[in-house]
Amino acid sequence: MKKFAVIGFPITHSKSPALHNAGFQEFQIEAEFEAIEVPPENLELWIKNEFRPNFQGAAVTIPHKETIGKFLDLESEAASKIGAVNTLYWEKGKLAGTNTDCIGALKALQTRVNPSGKKALILGAGGASRAIIFALCMAQADVFLWNRTKEKAERLAQEFKISHIDLLEKINPEDFDIIINTTSVGLNEMKSVLPASFWSPHHTAFDIVYSPLETQFLRDAQNAGAHVVTGDHMLVHQAVEQFRIWHGVDLDPDVMSEAFFG
Ligand code: ATR
Repeated sequence: MKKFAVIGFPITHSKSPALHNAGFQEFQIEAEFEAIEVPPENLELWIKNEFRPNFQGAAVTIPHKETIGKFLDLESEAASKIGAVNTLYWEKGKLAGTNTDCIGALKALQTRVNPSGKKALILGAGGASRAIIFALCMAQADVFLWNRTKEKAERLAQEFKISHIDLLEKINPEDFDIIINTTSVGLNEMKSVLPASFWSPHHTAFDIVYSPLETQFLRDAQNAGAHVVTGDHMLVHQAVEQFRIWHGVDLDPDVMSEAFFG
């Protein structure tokens, strides 16, 4: 039986086992997918004594995404540019790490809009923001970054050669096509970084938060007639990409979406 896992600390709310088990059923793959809590101080030994001899792949979540790279044999270009690994897999006998959050975000967005040539405003400069900046640059969008702590936005904008915005109050919302919330504002609270007056039907709004699914950010956008993309799409599409890497097959995202809501 093939073995897969999601590792993090803590790991209680992970949707990964449900999503991947739905895929195993769909393709009748004999495999198991566990959620395993690995404390940071045990990560190196877990990779060496558990993952290497026993596992075909793993999803990696907080707080290991930025630190696991040094225990692997190789890293994809996406993982090294983003500075985070969310997927472990074997490549010709070597333990490799990549990042599927970027393709997950892009595919999620593409359910509503083609970002190529569009002006995209990204709010927030944490780990998720790096994956989304990378994805949107690859898709040839015109990317702008805002962050509460201005210096972080400046640094990140310089690294990825994109523009940064100091004050949201000073911009004309109509100048932007796509607005993405990667901040933790709205996570388990009905608050938004943007005022409701920001939005118009011209916009596509994407929030990576999926608890709740309808955030204040998306509710305001929807009320103004904008297109919206909810956070479950990113989670599902990044998992579909993991499934392709591990099993070499393209899974219908609806199979994982059903498991997400199931
Ligand atoms: P992740 O890795 O999930 O992206 P993170 O690294 O903790 O999360 O980043 C959280 C982001 O939310 C940051 O951009 C943070 O802004 P700062 O860099 O100024 O801390 C942003 N954030 C958190 N609380 C915020 C708030 N009340 N208003 C605006 N931005 C906020």
